[in-house]
Amino acid sequence: LALVERPRDLEGVSVVVSAGGTREPIDPVRFLGNRSSGRQGVAIARAAADRGALVTLVAAHLDADVVPDPRVEVIAVATADELGRAMDATAPDADVVVMAAAVADYSVASVSENKIRKQDAPGGLTLELVENRDIVAGLVAARRDGQTIVAFAAETVRDDDELLERARAKAARKGVDLLAANAVGWTQGFESTDNALVIVEREGEVVAVASGSKDDTAHALLDAIVAHRQG
Ligand code: CTP
Ligand code: CA
Repeated sequence: LALVERPRDLEGVSVVVSAGGTREPIDPVRFLGNRSSGRQGVAIARAAADRGALVTLVAAHLDADVVPDPRVEVIAVATADELGRAMDATAPDADVVVMAAAVADYSVASVSENKIRKQDAPGGLTLELVENRDIVAGLVAARRDGQTIVAFAAETVRDDDELLERARAKAARKGVDLLAANAVGWTQGFESTDNALVIVEREGEVVAVASGSKDDTAHALLDAIVAHRQG
């Protein structure tokens, strides 16, 4: 075990991190979900606590082996709507907000009160989905002076150039201070304990490229956040 001395450069800074993946109910027994384990977001929360921050984790369906640090206050949420409410409640008082959660883009237009039975939809079933609000866009619109807002983007891409291009476009579109992008695919990005991030700022400048364990990439992101806060 390598014990690395981390800088206490977030002493007393309040940090809110969202992590995991939301689930949108279809009926009482089914949902639409995604493959996010919560590992990167939980690593960011732990790393921030290691550096002296006061950390709140808004956690959506973390994998069973992904356990938040005991120093971190955890708010458990299920749906995108719940995650949005938790962020609205906690972000105004935060100095740093990191949206690492994979938030469902759509929810089911009318959730069935009872389990949908095959005989209700013989031969096939069409679900109508409605777009969820963009939580981080709302946080950016309400951003106070001195607050740093960070988004994530998990993208399927052909190469690093396309990842960077998409990261820049998304950072600009969202208006976030920093955006961390990583490549994902059928066999890439999710179950892994390692990650590779490119971190860009709003104007598209690359501020860091980091790879290694999700703890290492968490600290690299916090380095970028600290540098941004110092202006
Ligand atoms: N996000 C959010 N609210 C949503 C969807 C996403 O706050 N309803 C946040 C995510 O937590 C992430 C960032 O926005 O920090 C980027 O998410 P992403 O899914 O990559 O962006 P979208 O705007 O949803 O674009 P698309 O999925 O079409 O690429
Ligand atoms: Ca999305």
